[in-house]
Amino acid sequence: MSLIRRLGGDEGVAALVDQLSVRVRTDPIMGPYFRDVDEEALNRHRTMFLSALLGGAHSYTGKTLADAHGPFRLGDREFDAFLRVMRETLEAADVALLDRQSIVRRLSRLRNDVVSRGVSVAPGAPIFGGPEARD
Ligand code: HEM
Repeated sequence: MSLIRRLGGDEGVAALVDQLSVRVRTDPIMGPYFRDVDEEALNRHRTMFLSALLGGAHSYTGKTLADAHGPFRLGDREFDAFLRVMRETLEAADVALLDRQSIVRRLSRLRNDVVSRGVSVAPGAPIFGGPEARD
């Protein structure tokens, strides 16, 4: 059975993303960044996560992660907080250990696109998703 099916399909992933959003908004490190973010932007964020977690059928070709996060000048501290909150969310939802590790590993590869170090990615390039992105 594929990862997406073990997570309960689109519905299961949407529920996970909802739980993640609540934790992100109430996290002392990340919460402040989301104070002025509207629901629509948050939904784009969610869609991204859905595509990422589905791992194959969907690609993300919206704003690059570097463009979306660059203005916030995020550091490793914020990125580590994000991975921690993701781990907590997956654990609370009883996602199996190997699946949790696989999901967090995929997200952790995006550090250099989210954290500001002057590193950028090609405009319009799919950031992840698509068969070549599978573990
Ligand atoms: C692997 C980690 C992450 C991924 C995959 C991710 C993904 C995304 C995506 C796809 C968007 C929407 C971009 C758009 O508007 O088109 C977004 C927006 C945003 N992200 Fe992240 N993000 C990550 C980590 C973080 C972290 C660590 C923070 C801050 C602590 C953060 C804060 C934000 C904020 C504030 C927005 C809203 C930007 C706006 O609408 O003005 N993200 N993120």
